[in-house]
Amino acid sequence: MSGGGAEPGSSTGAAGQASRRGQQGSHIRLEGLALAYGDTPVQRDLNFEIRAGSVFVIMGGSGCGKSTVMRCLTGLLPPRAGRVLVDGVSLWDAAPARRTRMMRRNGVMYQSGALWSSMTLEENVALPLEQYTSLAPDQIRAIADYKLALVGLAGYGHYYPAEISGGMRKRVGVARAMALDPDTLFFDEPSAGLDPLSARRLDELILELRASLGTTMVVISHDLDSIFTIADDSVFLDAEQKTMLTTGNPRRLREESELAAVREFLNRGLPDTEAS
Ligand SMILES: Nc1ncnc2c1ncn2[C@@H]1O[C@H](COP(=O)(O)OP(=O)(O)OP(=O)(O)O)[C@@H](O)[C@H]1O
Ligand SMILES: [Mg+2]
Repeated sequence: MSGGGAEPGSSTGAAGQASRRGQQGSHIRLEGLALAYGDTPVQRDLNFEIRAGSVFVIMGGSGCGKSTVMRCLTGLLPPRAGRVLVDGVSLWDAAPARRTRMMRRNGVMYQSGALWSSMTLEENVALPLEQYTSLAPDQIRAIADYKLALVGLAGYGHYYPAEISGGMRKRVGVARAMALDPDTLFFDEPSAGLDPLSARRLDELILELRASLGTTMVVISHDLDSIFTIADDSVFLDAEQKTMLTTGNPRRLREESELAAVREFLNRGLPDTEAS
């Protein structure tokens, strides 16, 4: 933990958080969450939990509100109703300074995934360290190079984003999201726009990082291959009913869900006979 000891009004000191993270307990819990833009509701009655150290996938059709849920979980969009508990602390009821500290425990790779084109890969990854730490420039450079090495890009620090492939750019986005050693990594459609091989490599990277660092991973994805490869748990959001239809392991949901919409989504492209 970078933040230090327990805070007033909290039951979770640094030691409590560390021990909690070692378990497979609830790391993030949504309770009765509702989200809207202005008068337009997006999702309501969201109740699910993301276990510490798990890979959790948010799925559902285009426009159902997946990125909006991620915005709320990462501290960018307040909910209309309900709570987001992170290690037992309510994110949106916390004082602003505390919420900011909680937000810094997240690494986020956005859907647009944009890197700064005028900066080298090393400078892109170094940016959060420059903004949020007081480390010396050579320490920052060393950490940025280490993060690039973690995602398989050792020696590429001096390249510019335009000089590398789309799959490599996604990896740089992962390295940047990991710059501050987050407890939780959020990925909004990491494999969008990648060829199948690069997408599979990115899935492998997500699983490797989870195994080596124990980081909780929250991934928005449409990609069934990817969902079945990486997900421990998932939630399925519905655009018409504007709420979650189910939560659970996606392989089990594919076989056992009583909801046709969920089975159809998870069996897309699979002949019935191959569904088992
Ligand atoms: N900043 C915003 N202001 C107003 N409405 C928005 C805003 N962002 C998204 N919306 C609307 O909210 C709904 C949910 O959008 P969101 O981007 O969360 O969906 P999504 O599931 O991530 O979609 P996609 O799969 O296309 O990425 C959509 O109807 C969208 O048009
Ligand atoms: Mg989206």
